[in-house]
Amino acid sequence: MSTPAAEHAPGLASADGISARARGLTKAYGSGETTVLALDSVDVDVARGRFTAVMGPSGSGKSTLMHCLAGLDTVSAGQVWLGDTEITGLKDRELTRLRRDRIGFMFQSFNLIPTLNAVENITLPMDIAGQKPDQKWLDEVVDTLGLRDRLKHRPSQLSGGQQQRVACARALASRPELIFADEPTGNLDSRAGLEVLAFLREAVDQLGQTVVMVTHDPGAAAHSDLVLFLADGRIVDEMERPTAEAVLERMRLFPGGRPQTPGSDPVRGTAQSSSGATSRLSETTEKD
Ligand SMILES: Nc1ncnc2c1ncn2[C@@H]1O[C@H](COP(=O)(O)OP(=O)(O)O)[C@@H](O)[C@H]1O
Ligand SMILES: [Mg+2]
Repeated sequence: MSTPAAEHAPGLASADGISARARGLTKAYGSGETTVLALDSVDVDVARGRFTAVMGPSGSGKSTLMHCLAGLDTVSAGQVWLGDTEITGLKDRELTRLRRDRIGFMFQSFNLIPTLNAVENITLPMDIAGQKPDQKWLDEVVDTLGLRDRLKHRPSQLSGGQQQRVACARALASRPELIFADEPTGNLDSRAGLEVLAFLREAVDQLGQTVVMVTHDPGAAAHSDLVLFLADGRIVDEMERPTAEAVLERMRLFPGGRPQTPGSDPVRGTAQSSSGATSRLSETTEKD
């Protein structure tokens, strides 16, 4: 498919394997004078088999982007595809089925059912859908996440990190095309957070999953392959092979949520950080 990807617009992957795609994605909340433009004509390609992080100041539209890409929220304008399926315009019931069959979710609050044990929580979405888990895959997920000896425990008998690993296993259980995680380490101490991030990384590297993670933590973003930076509802930059230092440096360019144009490179606004990660400012930002 020929897209502006060839021109290296931020957020547009050059690889063919695109797991989710948005064009002109716009989301407004409210109406009249109280309208909030949460997403402002966002174009983005989420590459298959990669770990993509979404960062930006609070209120920049990270959660809204995730919700719209995942079909959890309707869009005001623009189009969203999951694989080859355009999800904008699907009826509620079709959307529900698509989410159930093709998308996995992780949230800041683990959203586990307290009366069910770990393995029951992991297979719950599939049980509801009347689907049989692929036992071999489930075993692989459980072992990758180190949950083998915790399967009979209820959430209250598990640490926060273990609970989020259960939520991670639940997201992976049906082998979805795409996993969305919104601040999955937000409620965890740093060690447990690191564990969960390492497992998400393994899900991508060893299980071939595609992960999109919203985070405000540069250290968490550093586990991804690509960071997309949002500001005021637009993708204003991206960074390949991020390091925590480079992401932090880039985030410092967002005072009060407004991106600034770094003066470091007069040619194309390319910020080369000391860590070697590259960050490219979009045309949008340069015009700001
Ligand atoms: N349900 C809603 N109703 C009204 N405004 C909303 C709603 N959800 C989000 N917003 C607004 O949209 C903008 C983006 O929000 P959000 O996507 O949650 O940002 P982030 O996740 O980056 O903090 C913010 O200004 C927020 O106040
Ligand atoms: Mg949010």
